[in-house]
Amino acid sequence: MIERFHIPGAPKPAGPYSHAVRAGDYIYVSGQGPFNTETGQYEIGDIRHETRIVITNIQKILAGAGATLADVVKCSVFLKDVAEFSAMNEVYGEFFGAAKPARTTVQAVMPNPAMHVEIDCVAYKPLKPMIPEQTADEVIALLAASANADYYGEPVSQLAHALQAAQSARDANADEELILAALLHDIGHNISDERAIRHGEVGVINHDDLGAEWLAERGFSARLRTLVRGHVDAKRYLVATNANYAKRLSPASTETLKHQGGPMAPDEAEAFGAAPELKDCLRLRNWDELAKEPGRPVTPIAAYRDMIVRHLTATARPVQQA
Ligand SMILES: [Fe+2]
Repeated sequence: MIERFHIPGAPKPAGPYSHAVRAGDYIYVSGQGPFNTETGQYEIGDIRHETRIVITNIQKILAGAGATLADVVKCSVFLKDVAEFSAMNEVYGEFFGAAKPARTTVQAVMPNPAMHVEIDCVAYKPLKPMIPEQTADEVIALLAASANADYYGEPVSQLAHALQAAQSARDANADEELILAALLHDIGHNISDERAIRHGEVGVINHDDLGAEWLAERGFSARLRTLVRGHVDAKRYLVATNANYAKRLSPASTETLKHQGGPMAPDEAEAFGAAPELKDCLRLRNWDELAKEPGRPVTPIAAYRDMIVRHLTATARPVQQA
């Protein structure tokens, strides 16, 4: 199985390559330079700062592919000047800690002659065998359990919010992958994960990333996960690019925006605007905003079981045979 990733929020590829490619149990991450997506600039000159940005970019890409630095088994480090080896190592060691990957380090001529370091890596993240029907039951049970959970300052439950978002997708004749993305876009609020960053009344701040990763582990498609992960960034993009959009946000959604990084910087918005799934990300965001209406009739959760089974059967790996 080969899967190619274009990760929203990671530096735009500077050529005809993917951010990462999964081949079976391994994920290959393309070489990253010191391009800071927060500022939209290469931040060059201090090897420690450059190394920090490079590995942060790798973290973002790994997260998008369903892995973390702890899964990295091999790195290649390219230094403009080998005299900076020790300083690079200091920062590199901070990120990897005790889980040290195998590594090669060489002095190299960089395509961007100003930058001092580039790093690529390979991660080992085996896909678990899975049975579509079992995963569908797990997902349905998790959503059903949120029937009495408040949706963070909105007048509907978390389950009603998910079902209304999915209903809007159905009513718009969206394809099943997009309908399921709408249903599952906030699943990161419902799972338990020790990495969850909770903030008072607004729930799990990093629910987009955690939800996408949880779905990756269960075999949901790369496109569906990109849409789930992108629903928060879509809000940050729309606030940055559409002067009227912020006025549409509910008070709770306006409050969460502050904790989600606020409006995108111009270069970040430009990169997000070029993502292949932009149109569907924005459609999902719109359905998300509308899914806060008390008493709105919806298709019941049980009706999605067969759709999930079809999705996982079509896109995910089969059960491994002994
Ligand atoms: Fe939502």
